[in-house]
Amino acid sequence: MTEARPRIWVSQPLFPDVVGRLREYFDVVETAQVTRHAPAQIAAALAACDGALVTLNDRIGAPEVAGAPRLRAIANVGVGYNNLDIAALTDAGILATNTPDVLTETTADFGFALMMAAARRITEAERWLRDGQWRQWSFETMLGMDLHRATLGILGMGRIGQGIARRAAGFDMRVLYHNRSRLPESLERECRAGYVDFDTLLAQADHLLLVLPYSPQVHHLIDAAALAKMKPTATLTNIARGGIVDEDALADALGSGRLAAAGLDVYEGEPAVNPRLLALRNVVLTPHIASGSLATRRAMVALAVDNLTAALGVGPDAGRPPTPINAAALAQAKPGLKRGA
Ligand code: GLV
Repeated sequence: MTEARPRIWVSQPLFPDVVGRLREYFDVVETAQVTRHAPAQIAAALAACDGALVTLNDRIGAPEVAGAPRLRAIANVGVGYNNLDIAALTDAGILATNTPDVLTETTADFGFALMMAAARRITEAERWLRDGQWRQWSFETMLGMDLHRATLGILGMGRIGQGIARRAAGFDMRVLYHNRSRLPESLERECRAGYVDFDTLLAQADHLLLVLPYSPQVHHLIDAAALAKMKPTATLTNIARGGIVDEDALADALGSGRLAAAGLDVYEGEPAVNPRLLALRNVVLTPHIASGSLATRRAMVALAVDNLTAALGVGPDAGRPPTPINAAALAQAKPGLKRGA
């Protein structure tokens, strides 16, 4: 009797030619349309699977994996993984992986672009022009804030934050950062970035960029009190996670002129966007696309496929997934996990 092949659930449509590589080793159940899966649907999909390829739309914790005795690996297509309850997955002996590095430069490009769009009012100006409001050229139309030689504040100085700092050198910006831990001096020199405490970052940044990972500890870190410490001429750009910013406090600050402008790619209730933000002219709103270049999104799926294949003990990296989150789960692997050499 031939042994049944392990089964993989792919939660969202992802590049079929890249995902198709899984078929060499596994039976693959794909999802034809972008779907907001209810928790019960996720649990049902995982119940009969050995592995899953998921995205930030899919929240997975103890209830979703409780009825999935065969599930050994979840490959998240994204660098942030606050959609996964890592402690619960580790307890269940399920390895989780993410996709760092491959998206660093693309995401840094976008962070810079969003910050520039907010500072120079690019989308606001375009809406105004398309609305037919440009009746004659005026010297004072859509005056914005400069980036060159301004102070850039980066909150969260991981790989993407460092990529943004390197870009800032080309604009002759002064770069300040705050991070859970200070970078080694050599890296600070390379990024031409100076470490400051959180309040100093808020007070001195002309443009503040959020690139830190989400955790409950940083929920609404940027609240009314934090915004009140910023310069009224400053901009705030968030490419991290929506929950880090109190959106009502931000809408108050933008509406009252307490803050000049904002650029947001992420939202607390996405895909829903706070209607108060939608009504404001001085905020650039994009739909969580910071890593969205074609090449990078393909590379993210390819890395997730490699992770899943290796985590399930097959392929060239069998047993050694390139970017595990909870390597501890490998140590307490469920029976049946094939280990590579
Ligand atoms: C996108 O937000 C990601 O975490 O990759």
